[in-house]
Amino acid sequence: MERLQKFIAESGYTSRRKAEELITQGKVKINDKVVTELGTKVSGKEKIFVEGKLLTKEEKEYYLLNKPRGVITSVSDNRNRKTVIDIINSKKRIYPVGRLDYDTTGVLLLTNDGEFSNILMHPNNKIDKVYVAKINGIIKGEEINKLKNGVEIDGLKTKKCKVKLKRTDLKNNTSYVSLTIHEGRNHQVKKMFESIGFKVLKLKRERVGIFTLKGLASGEFRKLTPKEVAIIYSFNDNK
Ligand code: URA
Repeated sequence: MERLQKFIAESGYTSRRKAEELITQGKVKINDKVVTELGTKVSGKEKIFVEGKLLTKEEKEYYLLNKPRGVITSVSDNRNRKTVIDIINSKKRIYPVGRLDYDTTGVLLLTNDGEFSNILMHPNNKIDKVYVAKINGIIKGEEINKLKNGVEIDGLKTKKCKVKLKRTDLKNNTSYVSLTIHEGRNHQVKKMFESIGFKVLKLKRERVGIFTLKGLASGEFRKLTPKEVAIIYSFNDNK
């Protein structure tokens, strides 16, 4: 069972907020009855009419984008900057699964399937998110160990994670470090490095679970295969 406003939003008819308005305005019917109660639960077997139109479930779409720099991970932007949604240009109401900063590049999934998105984002599912950061300075083993064991950001310690030094560039005084994390806190990687005194100069997400950038140049995207979608759903079945 799910909440009526969520069901309407997932049908692609409108946003969840707008759906709530339509419900309270008496514009939604379940079978032949007007409902104005926001908590109403539906199973999906009912006939639901919004503004007189029968809702049908929207076909789900799944994309993998190699996000370029200088694009915002959001459905819209009040400063009129280009968004990842502009790149895909789907007719469906797709949205990004999690966020990458404006200047971060790499693997970004987009979908209109809320459940798929929840599975990928839930830390209990332990889906790897692999980042490579170029940082200022030469990082030492003990600093890498600090990151591995968890550092405090925004008053909360990060979970244990894998950290590998890929290479150092003595001439330019930079290091390239790969981090594998399961959490998705705000600006997590940049803040983790900041907490041990480094600045992230470049950040790329190379992998999310089974999804890599193979075959995708910067700014390119592809649809996921049904098999890939099924693999992500199987993480949920394990619980
Ligand atoms: N961590 C960050 O700091 N930025 C991102 O874009 C992703 C993870």
